This record gives sequence, structure tokens and C-alpha cells, in this order.
Amino acid sequence: MVEDVPTYEDAQGKATPWWRSAVIYQVYPRSFADGNGDGTGDIAGLRGRLGHLAGLGVDALWLSPWYVSPLADGGYDVADYRDIDPAFGTLDEAEALIREAHSLGLRIVVDLVPNHCSEQHPWFQAALTAGPGSPERELFHFRTGRGEDGELPPNDWPSHFGGPAWSRTADGSWYLHMFAPEQPDWNWENPEVRAEFLSVLRFWLDLGVDGFRIDVTDHLVKEDGLPDAAGHHHRPHPWRDQEGVHEIYRSWRKVLDTYPDDRAFVAELWEQDPGRFARYLRPDELHTAFNFPLLRSPWDARSFREVINATLHAHALVGAPATWVLSNHDTTRHVTRYGRADTSYGFDRAARHGQPVDLALGTRRARAAALLMLALPGSAYVYQGDELGLWEVEDIPDHLRQDPTWLRSGGLDRGRDGCRVPLPWEGEERPFGFSPERASAAPWLDVQPDGWRELTVAAQAGDPASHLELYREALRLRRTLRGLGDGPMHWHASTPDVLDFTRPGAFRCVVNLGQEPTSLPTETTVLLASAELVDHALPPDAAVWLREH
Ligand code: NOJ
Repeated sequence: MVEDVPTYEDAQGKATPWWRSAVIYQVYPRSFADGNGDGTGDIAGLRGRLGHLAGLGVDALWLSPWYVSPLADGGYDVADYRDIDPAFGTLDEAEALIREAHSLGLRIVVDLVPNHCSEQHPWFQAALTAGPGSPERELFHFRTGRGEDGELPPNDWPSHFGGPAWSRTADGSWYLHMFAPEQPDWNWENPEVRAEFLSVLRFWLDLGVDGFRIDVTDHLVKEDGLPDAAGHHHRPHPWRDQEGVHEIYRSWRKVLDTYPDDRAFVAELWEQDPGRFARYLRPDELHTAFNFPLLRSPWDARSFREVINATLHAHALVGAPATWVLSNHDTTRHVTRYGRADTSYGFDRAARHGQPVDLALGTRRARAAALLMLALPGSAYVYQGDELGLWEVEDIPDHLRQDPTWLRSGGLDRGRDGCRVPLPWEGEERPFGFSPERASAAPWLDVQPDGWRELTVAAQAGDPASHLELYREALRLRRTLRGLGDGPMHWHASTPDVLDFTRPGAFRCVVNLGQEPTSLPTETTVLLASAELVDHALPPDAAVWLREH
């Protein structure tokens, strides 16, 4: 039971479930706060900093994986779905965290990784030992190879992290892994796998979590026979968005709905076709899904308008609320993106890495983007450090890089470490309060830039011009203004470089993505602005929240 959680109301004053309007803060546990001084963020550190999150004004926390894991992919390689990795703490601490968060009005969403596990998972270890043809191997995708001696992978599927999606075992068989070799894919045709995940869902629901973020939601079911992907331009795609995946989520929804208090799912879904995307959000499937087109979009009014309209249209078809997100632990931080000549996000990180960045410009735009995102209909995500205006750390020495994409791509892709650098909390010296004083080890990724001295929570708190105070004020207003969160929006006619819309309750948001200041509508009062206004005009790369008279 969550106490003291604000109820959102629609324009008619009707309460709506929290997940339709929530602002959810993503915690990447390894890099959030280190409580025991071993250089790795942990539950103790997070519990110690819950006050920051409650004070920030978010409604819920999504925790990236904290399960037992060799951390071959930062915890997205799970060896035990029902326990916490000792590096992060214990199950008792996890329970205490859930309780404490609830008492502060913060809900907890945990990450569920159903497409693959860790090679250290006991079931995969048992499959390796049991050998070809065994029922243990049926839980995964084991095959014989092609070529005279089976020396070639069984099909042409590439791993998302580079190289083939197949690795060979000591007995000469191959197993499928859409990500790193340390992450074998589960075989979702097997009823034992299905039953196991229903039981894992119940385990965490019984412990009191309010929801699940589902990793690579659309990958679970593979096309029968695992055919080659070459020339496969028609749908369905052999490893993504297969029809059978929906049945799985219907069964999960049934379990979730037996629990009280509005528990919810959020799907990680990089599906670009809005119609296919919406199918996961049908009323008997998942509640919400990450809507990445805003994150991918360049800093361009026309593109933003198109993304917003397409998103709202697709969600309306199934009655689901939209979600908005600007950054996460897989993508280049948006302060950096918006400071480059090419402001869009793409997975061709190798080509984008190291392009010149104007951090002041990126920061200005990030402030404006925050006000835009928090004014849009639906729920929104804040990735840890967004509220501080952190930028991507691009100059990590190669020998410190840890992301498997870096190694698997042969050093072409610099990977995702740059957005996972430990948070700066306070003080003049690195690690800026990430670890306690007299810690026994340096942070696991010891590359905080000197410039983050000015961006610590302590340095920004109380300064009305800071990034942090902008977020705090925006979130405070969002909680008090009826009409933000879920609900309708209405565009006003504007010049092409300006976004101008109202929400119920005489709320208006204007964003200037052009080169010239734009005058604001008369008969309005300023509630909050991302930059200083001159004569009721909004400068370029800025946003404002207004109340209409
Ligand atoms: C998506 C997660 O966000 C990412 O960090 C991870 O590497 C892949 N899924 C594989 O689990």
C-alpha cells in the first residue's frame, strides 16, 4: 500500500491511475550512490538518498536490474531473478527500500529481463552439463551448426552487441544470444520458462513492487525454425514483434490484475511503427511502453510536432497513456545530443561519438526539453542525472570502458558507459559524494569530469537558476496543476519553429526552437520559464509555462 501519493485528476476532477500521469525516475543502481564505500552504487546508498528523490517531486522509481549477476551487461544478465546481487545489498534491504519509498509516497518499478538470463544462471549451467538433446537444453535455443563439421552458426542472425548471435559450446553445439554471449536467450516455447516467469512476477509483487519495466519486450518469441534474416524485409520479423509475444503479456496481465493497488507494466519497445507499438498496449496487455521517437528526434519543431501527434494518435487507438523520455542508460545524454550539429539520436554511436559539442547550448535546450516533456499528456521518465543537467562523458580512457558493446564491436562503438558515470552529490573533490568519505575503493567507473563540481546536488540546491531547481519547480507545479499528466492537449497556430499548446486548466506551454525571440501570448502569466524572458518574449532554445487569464 502506498501512502501519501498525490492523486492525479483529469479535467473533470476524476482520479486516474497513477501510471497514466506519473513522473518516474530511473535509478541505475551501480551509479546512483555508494553506501558501503566499495565504489559500486548500492541499495544502502539509494536508501540514504531517497530524500533527494522525494524532494525532487517524482512519483515513482524504476530500478535497473539489481539481481544476482556477473554484470557482463551491467546487470541485464541475471543469474537469479529472486535475489539481489551482493554488490547491491540483500533482499532484506530491498524490502526495506520498498517500504521506505512507499512511506515517502514513491512507488517502485523493478526491471524484468525475460528475453535472456546470465550464462551463470543455474538452468543454463545445467543445460551445458546435460548435453545435446536433453530437456535442460530445451529451455534455451541450442542448435547444431552449419558447414561440414557444424563449424558455422545455425543462422545469420547478428547480436545487437556485434558479431553473430550464436556461440559454440565445448561439445560443439551452438546457443542463441541476441545480446552478449553471456546472455543466452530463453526459449519461450517451453512451458517451464513461461511458468517460471509468472512465478518471478508473483515473487516481486508479493514483496510489494508497484510495477515492472520489461526489457526488450518484443524479442521473446522467435520465428519457428529460426530462419535466416537475410532478405527478410516483410513482417513478421524473425526475432522481433512476433505475434506469439502478445499471448505472453496477456497471461502476465492476468496475474498482475489479481493484485490490489494499480500495479503496472512499462514495456521497453523500440518499435517504430506506431500501429504495431500500440498493439502491446491493448487493454488486456501492457499498461504503458517507452515511447522513444521523442528521444530520437532532432531539436526541430516540425519533428517534435510530428512525433507528439503520431504518439498521441497511436495511443488513443488503444486508450493507453503516452510516455515521454529524453535519456536513459542506453543512450547519449541529451545535454550532449542537443549541443551537437546533429541533434538526433541514433544507434550509430560510432559515427556520432566525439563530434563537437556546445554544452551551454545543449544545457539550454535540455532545460527547455524538460518543460516540454513534463507538459505533454501522459507520464514521463527522468533518467538519474537529467535533473542535474549532466552531460555524456565522452573522453573515457579506453581501458576503463566496461560496456560489452565496446568490446564486441572491436572498439568501433564506444558504448554506453558515458551516460552511466556515477552521480555527483556534493563536495569539491571527486567522487563528489558518490561514495562515503574514506571509501575502500574508487568508483567502478572513475571518470567524473571536474566540471561536475558545479553540478552536484548540493551546489545546485537553492539556486533558482539551476537545472535542479527548474526540475523541482516543474515537478511541484505538475503535481498542483490539474490538467497536466494524462488528458487532452490543444495546439495553437504558431510560426513553424515554435510549439504552442494548451492543457486543461488554462495551462499553456510555448517552446521556441527557432533562431529569434518569439513574443508570448498576451493575457498570460508566467508560471515557469527555462530561460530569462525579455519583454514577455521567449528567447531561442527556451520554453515557458503560462497561465491563461
Ligand atoms: C535493454 C537494456 O536497456 C540494455 O541496457 C541491455 O543491454 C539490453 N536490453 C539487453 O538486456
